Amino acid sequence: MKKILTISIVVISLLLLAVAGFLGYVAVDGIPSYAAPQPNIEPIASTPERVALGEKLVLASCADCHLNSTTNTLGGQQLRDVPPAFGTLYAANITRNRQHGIGAWTDQELVGLLRTGIGRDGRYRVVMPSFVQMSDEDLASIVAFLRSDSPLVRATPTPSRAQEPSLLAKVLFHTVMKPTPLPAAPVTAPDSTDALAYGRYLVIGRYKCYDCHSKDFKTNNALEPEKSEGYLGGGNEMVNRQGRPVRARNITGDADTGIGDWTEGQFAQALRFGQSPHGPLGYPMPKYSRLSAAEVHALYTYLQAVPKIRNATAEDGPAAL
Ligand code: HEC
Ligand code: HEC
Repeated sequence: MKKILTISIVVISLLLLAVAGFLGYVAVDGIPSYAAPQPNIEPIASTPERVALGEKLVLASCADCHLNSTTNTLGGQQLRDVPPAFGTLYAANITRNRQHGIGAWTDQELVGLLRTGIGRDGRYRVVMPSFVQMSDEDLASIVAFLRSDSPLVRATPTPSRAQEPSLLAKVLFHTVMKPTPLPAAPVTAPDSTDALAYGRYLVIGRYKCYDCHSKDFKTNNALEPEKSEGYLGGGNEMVNRQGRPVRARNITGDADTGIGDWTEGQFAQALRFGQSPHGPLGYPMPKYSRLSAAEVHALYTYLQAVPKIRNATAEDGPAAL
């Protein structure tokens, strides 16, 4: 008995020492670095089609974080919706400025970052979503837009600020929040006339709806998104611009707690104008004002077809809870 007790004390002490050691290491290491990614891509040619698509994608998926309302360019800003327990984080300047923006980054470096989350200096760009399932053509369009003469990316000399993560955030960056690998093969989008396949691509690749709309960012599976916990069933808690918690909603086809009882017209209204049958939708739900009719139809078709999850959030009312 005494021996077992002694052994337990030794084991527990060693464990505590290991935890303390890990925390100490994490506190000093801060944000981890990795080998800089080197995707095997051709230089990206700019075409009017790419710039137009890139603008639409950047407005939908990047501007909420990167748009600076003083300069009206993607010059970066403090992220107001980071939970205080995470510390203070800043979106970087991604205008064409060579010193402070991404003007001096190569196409390869930009694609490498957008795929993996790792910058050209090897530092992991935290909180910034990575786009491992996005098609090569969509990514090329984003890069073409970032290099275009759009006023949104006009070279702006605002310096990007260093991140100030809390110890908790640093622990997460060393454990559950990790960069994603470069895709092993070319990534192509399915044909837009195949509504089910195209809808799936929009949800996991182009707009990453599943990232916000599943159970929790921490249990999402970037490489096999359908294996994310509570895939598209909502519940993921975020923070709105007023610092108040807001939960992403269930967008599976469950009639009581999801969107199974919505018409395609109601769905289009919610996505394009932020008007849900439950009332106005607020940040961080993006406004997809430029969605094409084919995109709306494909998203609606796919979301009605995914496995239904019964999971109520506040707007479903007491009957569904
Ligand atoms: C949730 C907020 C968020 C979204 C959405 C987002 N970013 Fe970022 N991005 C960040 C943050 C924060 C950083 C800086 C991270 C750091 O320095 O650790 C960053 C960094 C970057 C950088 C690296 C710049 C540098 O100098 O280090 C590029 C390029 C970039 N983002 C492009 C994009 C593009 C393109 C999109 C849309 C496809 C996008 N981001 C969407 C938050 C975001
Ligand atoms: C950055 C996170 C984020 C992304 C990305 C996102 N959403 Fe949302 N979505 C939310 C949040 C949060 C709400 C709830 C907003 C509120 O309470 O005002 C919401 C609400 C909705 C609603 C309203 C549901 C209801 O019952 O009223 C629909 C529909 C929806 N999102 C569909 C989508 C689709 C489709 C996509 C991808 C094209 C998407 N969302 C991408 C965060 C996100």
